[in-house]
Amino acid sequence: MVHLPSADDVRIPDDPTGSNCGSDRDVALLKDLAAQILGERDHMVGFPVNLDFDYRPLADFLQVHGNNVGGPGTDSEYHLHSKVFERAVVSFFARLAGDDDAFGYVTSGGTEGNLYGCYLGRERFPEAVLYASETTHYSMPKIARLLGMDYVAVETGPDRAMDLAALRRHHSSRKGRPAVVVATIGTTTGGAEDDLAGIRGALADAGTDQVHLHSDAAFGGLIAALAPEPRPWAFESGADSVAISGHKMLGAPFPCGIALARPEHVDAIRREGIAVGSDDDTITGSRDAFTPLLLWYELRRLGRTGLQRRVAHCLATAEYAEQRLREEGLHPQRAPGSNTVLFETPAADICARWNLLTVGDQAHLIAMPHVTGEHIDRLCADLRT
Ligand SMILES: Cc1ncc(COP(=O)(O)O)c(C=O)c1O
Repeated sequence: MVHLPSADDVRIPDDPTGSNCGSDRDVALLKDLAAQILGERDHMVGFPVNLDFDYRPLADFLQVHGNNVGGPGTDSEYHLHSKVFERAVVSFFARLAGDDDAFGYVTSGGTEGNLYGCYLGRERFPEAVLYASETTHYSMPKIARLLGMDYVAVETGPDRAMDLAALRRHHSSRKGRPAVVVATIGTTTGGAEDDLAGIRGALADAGTDQVHLHSDAAFGGLIAALAPEPRPWAFESGADSVAISGHKMLGAPFPCGIALARPEHVDAIRREGIAVGSDDDTITGSRDAFTPLLLWYELRRLGRTGLQRRVAHCLATAEYAEQRLREEGLHPQRAPGSNTVLFETPAADICARWNLLTVGDQAHLIAMPHVTGEHIDRLCADLRT
């Protein structure tokens, strides 16, 4: 486990004279923390983050302020930006998501992508009710509050995905109201995938065609898209907007993501030329210019084929973990095609050592790209002792 330095060790003095600022001691403190965090790769099997990357060749960009202020499609009057790389990254994900013409930009993470998708929906249908399953990401009720929308958590079925009959029932009792629905593709707590086409069908049965369908594909989008047998997850299955995470299957040193949307929905909210000469069609004004470079670098390195291999590795590791945990008598469960394995929560010290998230009496093992069969063998050895 990472041992963080004490508050006294890291306190920033008002007057640096005579302090340790910039001293060998400070450098040693940071090096020690970095080494500890890097060492955690040996035990990090419970969080949906990828630790298999090395962006040090891009270190030059740590000396300059890059800013992709405004929209991704229009250059700004601030010239130190990376929008041409951002557009290349967006184009890759738009093709993967089934709409070459989709609008997109690089976000601060999955939550911003979901906020953006729901915002587009609320702008299309100001009176809409926001629906998401009860296993949706915890930020969804907050997004509803931010957007001033009525929020309904829809019950889930035995597969932990949204119960379509329940959605139909909920919306039938709100006749005349439009709907913004968040379909989760890969829930954080078990990898369940909602049925995009089924959601549209259920709402049509409930008597509405005023629907904005957002796919929260932050966790499972790339897995569904790139699995040996791809599953529906984005525009091709009726989504109007999509959120993808950059630090999960792809990997980055900090949280990031990609928001995608049908271009006509973004045309409706765009204010032209007002963001330092660029259009305003994103959530934030100043935007990070470094992350698009990282994502571009990794996508060029891996390509679609490399990502497919990566997904195949994660699924094979999850299958191995399921088999080994069954042998240990820990009753593992795994949603079809998911890299998350739920099993009986072990002792607290094991959960802490292996970074295992627990929900109720179940712990989560998430086979991300850096997790190998060797991790699983060591975990099982620990579980036995
Ligand atoms: C399904 C899903 N949606 C949204 C999010 C939120 O993403 P972020 O933490 O990058 O804001 C997560 C993060 O784990 C997630 O798994």
